[in-house]
Amino acid sequence: MKIDKFDKVMSLAKRRLFIFPGSGIYGGLTGIFDFGPLGVEMKNNIKKQWWKFMVTKRRNIIGIDGAIITHNRVWEASGHIQNFTDPLVEDKVTHKRFRADNLIKDWLEKHGDSNNTKVELTDMNIIDMSEFIEQNNILSPDGNPITNAKSFNLLMSTELGVTEGGKDVAYLRGEACQTIYLDYKYIIDSGRYKLPFGICQIGKAFRNEITPKHSLYRQREFEQMDLQYFVAPEEMEKSYEYWKGERENWYKMLLNDFESIRFRQQTKNELAHYAKVAFDVEYNAPFGWSELEGIHWRGDWDLSRHGQYSGNDLTYTDPETGNKFTPNIVETSVGVDRTFLFLLLDAYNEEIVNNETRVILRLHPLIAPVTVAILPLKKNENQLNISQTIFDDLTDNFNVEIDVTGSIGKRYRRQDEIGTPFAVTIDDITEDDGTVTVRDRDTMKQERVKINELTQFVQTKIKEYRKFVGN
Ligand code: GAP
Repeated sequence: MKIDKFDKVMSLAKRRLFIFPGSGIYGGLTGIFDFGPLGVEMKNNIKKQWWKFMVTKRRNIIGIDGAIITHNRVWEASGHIQNFTDPLVEDKVTHKRFRADNLIKDWLEKHGDSNNTKVELTDMNIIDMSEFIEQNNILSPDGNPITNAKSFNLLMSTELGVTEGGKDVAYLRGEACQTIYLDYKYIIDSGRYKLPFGICQIGKAFRNEITPKHSLYRQREFEQMDLQYFVAPEEMEKSYEYWKGERENWYKMLLNDFESIRFRQQTKNELAHYAKVAFDVEYNAPFGWSELEGIHWRGDWDLSRHGQYSGNDLTYTDPETGNKFTPNIVETSVGVDRTFLFLLLDAYNEEIVNNETRVILRLHPLIAPVTVAILPLKKNENQLNISQTIFDDLTDNFNVEIDVTGSIGKRYRRQDEIGTPFAVTIDDITEDDGTVTVRDRDTMKQERVKINELTQFVQTKIKEYRKFVGN
């Protein structure tokens, strides 16, 4: 039933041009996706609202947009060359590769803990996994024996330079946040910013995931929205709790069903090499509770390491107390693509209206790809001209489209399915008195509104919807 919903949402996303498989006409690339005309609008809206909430509305947070290609020393310093690994096993017959932890998880779901050993997958290291696989004779999904688990590095590299043999290896960012640490020095040296303050970035990251899956959920190319908040060591606890609270507020605004997320503290074995404490924000997806965001206590790991490896002084001297220290970091890091996927799942609804199934995406009006659809009942010159005038007027503030194809019923159904909160219909009365009907997606109620009051009307309705802080 739950997987059924996932399939339905995926089929809608494809049919209505939200997402496409990357390089699809050549057979596609696993774990790579493109966003279509509606997808890009929705994705931009997510990023815009996140930026407003995290950056624009706060006086001590600023933004950057760093490069994707980075110096190989960055990843030595960050610890990723050594530690950024997943446990990999190989099918001894087909040589297909799988994640050992995923095979064990599937096995436990099927068999339970039959030896009653109270196995906690999150506590297993690579040797424990190999032993568990051997003891329980776990096979590959194709039913063949598998190798012992070994660590597989997820970083993707490229080569820079023009001379064969003389090229330099560089890395595509494995996590977007690293460029924030690299640029930290320029920002702090400007003298304009004092601790505590934060730097945000929205940008692409790349990981050679062993098993990309669930569409946008685990990809090899994806986008992250990060905050790195720099504080004095004694301020860490307070700041960490503050940002956990703020991220909770974000999800209260964003989701219809706030119960579908939970905050779960990571166990010691789950922690990334840079984190002392981490909470995952998890979404109750059709394929189980799944990580949406990480809130990480990175401490002084990043700036100490980059200071040491680059030879630059990345310490901070408090202008009031004269104390010198390496700033500590609270990180909040969420995937744009996972937010996108989970918002589609959160918004998807089916209801029976007049014995027919109405499919509806209850997206927040600030996230929906189209805010207002203009639907002339007739295709005569007058109604088309009025449509164009309304379009020109509303596009200053909203995403708008004019839809003239098919019956009005069909057009409403399409707009419901792509989550358009307001449908403006132009009819014979419009031609007489300059009013239109505005249909509300959620209630299907219609109100007559004067054309010159439409912008104000839609703006008020959006404000009355579940409130985004700062809007
Ligand atoms: N800088 C910290 C960091 O990268 P992470 O938990 O590995 O931490 C943060 O990633 C977020 O990025 C995740 O919570 C998820 O939303 C997103 N993310 C990570 N790997 C992803 C993947 N392979 N595909 C899509 N999104 C991913």
